[in-house]
Amino acid sequence: MNKVIIDTRGSGVKISRHIYGHFSEHLGRCIYGGFRAEDDSPVPVIRGIRQDVRTALQQIRIPNLRWPGGCFADEYHWKDGIGPREGRPKMINTHWGGVTEDNSFGTHEFLDLCDQLGCAPYICGNVGSGTVQELSQWVEYVNFDGVSPMADLRKQNGRPEPWNVEFWGIGNENWGCGGAMSPEFYADNYRRYAVYARNYGKSSLYRIACGPSGDDYNWTRVLMEQVFKAKGEFLMKGLSLHYYTVPGNWAKKGSATDFSEEDWFITLKKAFFMDELVHRHGTIMDEYDPRRSVGLIVDEWGTWYDVEPGTNPGFLYQQNTLRDALVAGITLNIFNNYAERVKMANIAQTVNVLQALILTSRDGMILTPTYHVFDQYQVHQDAEKLALSLDCENYAAGNEAIPGISASASKNGEGKIHLSLCNTDPQKEKPLVLEFTGMSPAAVSGKIISAETMRAHNTFDKPDTIGVRDFRGARVSGKPGEVLAALPPMSVVTLEITG
Ligand code: AHR
Repeated sequence: MNKVIIDTRGSGVKISRHIYGHFSEHLGRCIYGGFRAEDDSPVPVIRGIRQDVRTALQQIRIPNLRWPGGCFADEYHWKDGIGPREGRPKMINTHWGGVTEDNSFGTHEFLDLCDQLGCAPYICGNVGSGTVQELSQWVEYVNFDGVSPMADLRKQNGRPEPWNVEFWGIGNENWGCGGAMSPEFYADNYRRYAVYARNYGKSSLYRIACGPSGDDYNWTRVLMEQVFKAKGEFLMKGLSLHYYTVPGNWAKKGSATDFSEEDWFITLKKAFFMDELVHRHGTIMDEYDPRRSVGLIVDEWGTWYDVEPGTNPGFLYQQNTLRDALVAGITLNIFNNYAERVKMANIAQTVNVLQALILTSRDGMILTPTYHVFDQYQVHQDAEKLALSLDCENYAAGNEAIPGISASASKNGEGKIHLSLCNTDPQKEKPLVLEFTGMSPAAVSGKIISAETMRAHNTFDKPDTIGVRDFRGARVSGKPGEVLAALPPMSVVTLEITG
């Protein structure tokens, strides 16, 4: 029998709301046509920002937004994106389709977007092709409240007061598109860039170092050794990790919607790999930082498939099915369970790119299954993590197997318990016994995301094929401390339990 034991007495660990963060790059139709409406779009806008997208993201309490990349960040020169629009130079977006970037969406526009969303901005600086001075001046422009060349320039551009941005990335993927550096070379550079990215006034920057790609454990060790050990958390408060779930290989990743049960299995197996990554990178970080003052910041994660047929290969536009909901549920459960080390995560990417939460057209928008998982899981934001032990049957395919269930739990300020569960098996219902230590459940209710088929997804014609529905498959049993549930095949369920 599948069983979860939840210790409701609390762990003292907060699940940071920033785990539920997002990423927006100058890539395809994420910014232009995604957040920012096309010129001829009939959707309501405020200062160019689509209000349908804004409202949808506010509903899931978007905590932060990372920008301007991604690979784009390391060839972005922020001064090209300020001042009167007509004077802004154009550039080639070499990574993403070679299209012309007109710099009409820059620092002011991004920070206005974050104000409209009510979320914290996370700016990623240019280390690959920029300079120490350029990043230093960007921080001064954004955060300095006084008389200085950059603060004066900001005022001249219509913004008297600073924004006080806390989260700053010092480069992106500097082992690859951000300069093809060795970890040692990057660590040396990091210290230079980070020193001159100054704290102004009361602000204390949360500087995030470029971390490893997937299982490059040496990168983590070198950064912890040569930055954290040498200079401490003043210079580095976060270390990033990037990992994408690619069912095939980089040449043939697989279709987002046309897939078999074998593809489903492989995709979920690869999603579970995040557990090993977080665990092993975290173990190395523990050696240097046992107090866990440095956050592991998973600032790019999600599925990556072949682009939708007929779309620009450089725009990374893909559909999103129930399979993506399972990947999101499994991954967010992993982050919740490692909340003492994972302090932020950013799914790639919010609108129209990769595992998007929202797909837009000129005049409309659809919410993807992944959006609905973020909606369902928002109860965990800033709640106290609860320790749990899970004993479940596997979901097997051929000679391989993955856990049949993934789970995480938290307790909110009102003492309500939330337990999120994914049934990874597309065929079998999972009966489940839930045992609560330290409380006697009096009532249970739930929400579910599921569908009749693995490939189910929302389209502009049928936008509500998948959504969050009420779940009635759980009940308080006759035994003290016990709840019984039955998880439908291929489902993401969140239960609310009160004592
Ligand atoms: O999210 C798309 C790209 O994936 C980002 O630009 C880059 O950082 C990563 O390789």
